[in-house]
Amino acid sequence: MLEDKILVLDFGSQYTQLIARRVRENSVYSEIFPYNAPFKKILDFKPKGIILSGGPSSVYSKGSPIPDIKVFDLGIPILGICYGMQLMAHLLGGRVAKAAKREYGRAELFIDDDSDLFEGISSKFKIQNSKFKTVVWMSHGDRIEKYPKGFISIAHTENSPVAAMADKKKNFYALQFHPEVVHTEKGREIIKNFIFNICGTNLTWTMKSFIETAKHEIKEKVGNQRVVCGISGGVDSSVTAVLVHEAIGDALTCIFVDNGVLREDEAKKVENMLKKSFHMKIKYVDASERFLKKLKGVKDPERKRKIIGNEFIRVFEDEAMKIKNVSFLAQGTLYPDVIESTSFKGPSATIKSHHNVGGLLKKMKLKLIEPLRELFKDEVRVLGHELGMPDETINRHPFPGPGLAIRCISNVTKERLAILRKADVIVLDEIKKAGLYGKIWQAFAVLLPVKSVGVMGDERTYDNVIAVRAVTSVDGMTADWAQIPYEVLGRISNRIINEVKGVNRVVYDISSKPPSTIEWE
Ligand code: XMP
Repeated sequence: MLEDKILVLDFGSQYTQLIARRVRENSVYSEIFPYNAPFKKILDFKPKGIILSGGPSSVYSKGSPIPDIKVFDLGIPILGICYGMQLMAHLLGGRVAKAAKREYGRAELFIDDDSDLFEGISSKFKIQNSKFKTVVWMSHGDRIEKYPKGFISIAHTENSPVAAMADKKKNFYALQFHPEVVHTEKGREIIKNFIFNICGTNLTWTMKSFIETAKHEIKEKVGNQRVVCGISGGVDSSVTAVLVHEAIGDALTCIFVDNGVLREDEAKKVENMLKKSFHMKIKYVDASERFLKKLKGVKDPERKRKIIGNEFIRVFEDEAMKIKNVSFLAQGTLYPDVIESTSFKGPSATIKSHHNVGGLLKKMKLKLIEPLRELFKDEVRVLGHELGMPDETINRHPFPGPGLAIRCISNVTKERLAILRKADVIVLDEIKKAGLYGKIWQAFAVLLPVKSVGVMGDERTYDNVIAVRAVTSVDGMTADWAQIPYEVLGRISNRIINEVKGVNRVVYDISSKPPSTIEWE
């Protein structure tokens, strides 16, 4: 079905994922392969065009990443970005050298040829000898000194006489700047021009077509076996469950494990949504006592995480074993995790918690179904929407696997959890009422292990402190504290102190990540 695909070869740029996302935003499917992907794999993928990403290396350094040279003989358009451009110059007979002046950040690009890649990129400023200028984002220390044969310059900046070059006969294009980042004013248009004008792709990547293909593939794979899926209330697991259910109906059993450190009514809400709206089979397992017993007296954050992770596997396994004929485990792995684990840089050291199911797969001899493994997070949201899931689920803030245990600093007890839950409800309620929920990455309460003196009525109190944490972020990797209006903070504080017995002080966390983390533990 997907005939029109763009391949991105990754040379280690921090922006590689963005390139694929930009392509997909135009309803054209794109995948990322490591730069050293075998040529056969590239051929089998049948791309209509290839984009060579940027990267931190210099083409002249020893061991710098070089792709199979045969990609230049495929007869399809190629766009090199930054390192990708230098690579093209280097491999196709040009010359690259250290620039006298490195360019980082904003630069003005003067467009000398706007016939194809830069088509339609107009600007208020018309410059002598140059057609237009526009702002681009640079990040390079090397520059092109001599074009490869067949190439001409199609744009320049003050520091780079060749900021963009093209061999129009072969449909090879190269950019010294990054069109994929938002700081490049006309970046989206440039990528669009490449995939449509130059590669001639059609709009074939739509959620509807994705759903049909995915359902078909799931059905084929599962046959008359059964599938289990662990759901947590998060977007990824819920969307996975609904999609698999659409494909195989009641051959799917969802297991929801209540680990005792969930938010108020969390389990009920998820169960309601999946059962009532989607008529799915859900096994609710109340394992809270089991978890809380294990957590008793544990103060160390890492131990808390380990205990919860291990216990989850045990409970899940016990339940899954009870289902006859189970051969598959459905899991909400997303494309960024897939790229990370197949990247030439190797899997990252920070393996995410939901990957801990490895033991389960082996012991129960389960095979994996990962229907979201080609999707980015924002695409999963579109998919959920297309499947008719409520906005409340689709746009839900992330919630960590170890739940409230890592927000109940130090000892996790039923009493402390009850205080934290009540405060958490108030934080979210006020954030939603103020219309801030969608603008914030996460907002929550943290129960601190200190007590402070207060005065209520004429009585001295000696009670708990709640810290309120709210951050803005794009991917959770970096974050900034959210600049919530004082009135909203005031309402949150007032309500917590008045409504939650045992709290007499509320503080607001104003730390960014890094150097802090989003969660306190
Ligand atoms: P930190 O605290 O590392 O959190 O800045 C980054 C994001 O990850 C979430 N988080 C977790 N998610 N299991 C999860 O599924 C975990 O153990 C875990 N720890 C942190 C956190 O809520 C934030 O969105």
